[in-house]
Amino acid sequence: MVEIRNAPDGLDLTDATLIVGMLAENEPAPGAEEAYAAADPALLELAKFEGKTGQALTLPHTEAKSVVFVGLGDEATFETIRSGIGNAVRLVKTERAVTNLNQIPVDGATRAVVEGAALGGYQFRAYKTEGEGLSIETLELVDGDEESLSETVITTEATNLARDWVNTPALDKAPATLAESMREAAENAGLTVEVWDEDRIVSEKLGALLGVAAGSDRPPRLVLVEHNQDAAGAHLGLVGKGITFDSGGLSLKTAQYMEEMKDDMSGAAVVIAATIAIARLGLPIRVTTVVPLTDNAVGGKATRPGDVLRPVAGPTIEVLNTDAEGRLILADGLGVVRRYEPDLIIDVATLTGAAHVALGDKIAAVFGSDSEVSAQVLEAASRAGEHFWELPLFKDYKKSIESDIADIKNISGGRYGGAITAALFLSSYVDDEKWVHLDIAGPARSRETAGEHVKGASGVGVRTLVEVARSLVVAS
Ligand code: BES
Ligand code: MN
Ligand code: ZN
Repeated sequence: MVEIRNAPDGLDLTDATLIVGMLAENEPAPGAEEAYAAADPALLELAKFEGKTGQALTLPHTEAKSVVFVGLGDEATFETIRSGIGNAVRLVKTERAVTNLNQIPVDGATRAVVEGAALGGYQFRAYKTEGEGLSIETLELVDGDEESLSETVITTEATNLARDWVNTPALDKAPATLAESMREAAENAGLTVEVWDEDRIVSEKLGALLGVAAGSDRPPRLVLVEHNQDAAGAHLGLVGKGITFDSGGLSLKTAQYMEEMKDDMSGAAVVIAATIAIARLGLPIRVTTVVPLTDNAVGGKATRPGDVLRPVAGPTIEVLNTDAEGRLILADGLGVVRRYEPDLIIDVATLTGAAHVALGDKIAAVFGSDSEVSAQVLEAASRAGEHFWELPLFKDYKKSIESDIADIKNISGGRYGGAITAALFLSSYVDDEKWVHLDIAGPARSRETAGEHVKGASGVGVRTLVEVARSLVVAS
C-alpha cells in the first residue's frame, strides 16, 4: 500500500524520485519544464519516449535520485493523469516519490493522482515467498487539495480492501472466515455488524441460500452491516453476491470456466468495502448492507436440478441449473434488506457470463427499476470514473423464466439475453421499491496491469457506490 500525503514545506528531493508529466511530442506539462530542460534529449529519443499515454520513462536528475516522465497524450485529462501516475509508481525504484501532477489545471487532479497511485500501486503479495514487490512506500504531492486527498485515500483503501478479499484463494475464505474478516474491517470503521450463522439462517428461513449452501461442508453465513441505523433521511440498502467459490454445483462448470471462480464473492466484497468508505467519510445517510456468503459445491447433499427452493419472501424457485446460484442467494439477500425499508436498493453481483459477453472486460451492466434510478447510478459511475452501461429489464422475456411446477425457474432455457433474464429474475424479489442491479461479471477482474488497473481483482463498484451515497446526501 502506497502511503500518500502532501509534501512538507521546503520540498526535499534527496533520495526521492520526482514524477512529472509530459504531453504528446514531448511538450512538458505544467511543472515539468525544468526537469525537461535538464534531461538529455538523446536519452528520450533512445527510449522512443514521446509523451504518449501509457509511456513512462526514468532518467537521471540532478537534485532527486531520478525523474520519471509520464506520458499524458495530446491533452492532460483526469484519466490520463490517473493512469499515468499508476504507471509511474510501478517504475519508481526509491522508497519516496514526489509529484506535482496534481497541479495540472484539470478538474479533480488531486483525486486523479491519489487514485492512480493508490490503485496502480496495489499489490497482493500474501502468498509470495520470493521477490520484493514495488519499491515505493510514500508518494508526496506538491500542495495537493487536502480534502480531496484525504477523501480519495479512504475510497481507494476501500477499493484495495475489496481487491484483497477477492484475490484471496477460496481455500482461505470459507464463508465463516470471510464473515469474520468483514466483521473486523466494518467494526474498525465504527459500523454495527451482525453475522448470522447457519442456525440463524435456518430459523430465518432463507431457503434459497440454504439450498445453494447444501452442497458444501463449509457452512454459510450472512453478514449484515449498518451505518447510522437510527438516522432519518435517505436510506440506502446494499446487497452483494458472496459465492466464496462457484464450482457450478451439480451443473458442474468445466475447468476453464471454474478457474476464476474465487472471484464470485466480488459483489459482497464491494458492498461491504463501500459501506466502510461511506462510514469513514462520515456521510450523513443511513446504509443497510446485506451479504449472503456460501460456496456452490457438489457434496452429497447438494441441491439437484429440478429441486424447488423457498426463499424468505417472494416466488418459490425451481432450480434447473445449479450454476445459476447467484440469483438464488440474492433473492434471500433482497428479502432481508427489504425488511429495513430502504429508499433505494442496489445489488452488486458477478452474476452472468452473458453480461461479460455483452460488455466485455471493462464495462459493468446496470439494470434499474426505472430509468431515473439507473441514470442516478450511471451519473455516479461517471463521476467516480468507472465504466457502466445500461441494459434493459425487458418485460417480455419474463415469460422465459416461468416454471411448470414452482412460481419461477432459475434459468430461461435459451442462451441469449442471459444477463437480462437474470436481472428479471431478481426483479421478482423487489416490489415497488427503487432498485438497481449491477452485473460486474466482466470488470470484477482486470486482465492486465496498466495505469490504475492491476491484474487480478479490480474492486469495481466501490467508488460508484460511494458516489451514489454522496448523491443521496445532496438529495436529502
Ligand atoms: N458466477 C457465474 C457468472 C460469471 C461468469 C462470473 C464469468 C464471472 C465470470 C454465475 O454463477 C454463473 O455461473 N452463471 C451462469 C448462468 C447460467 C447457468 C444461466 C452463466 O453465466 O453461464
Ligand atoms: Mn454459477
Ligand atoms: Zn456464480
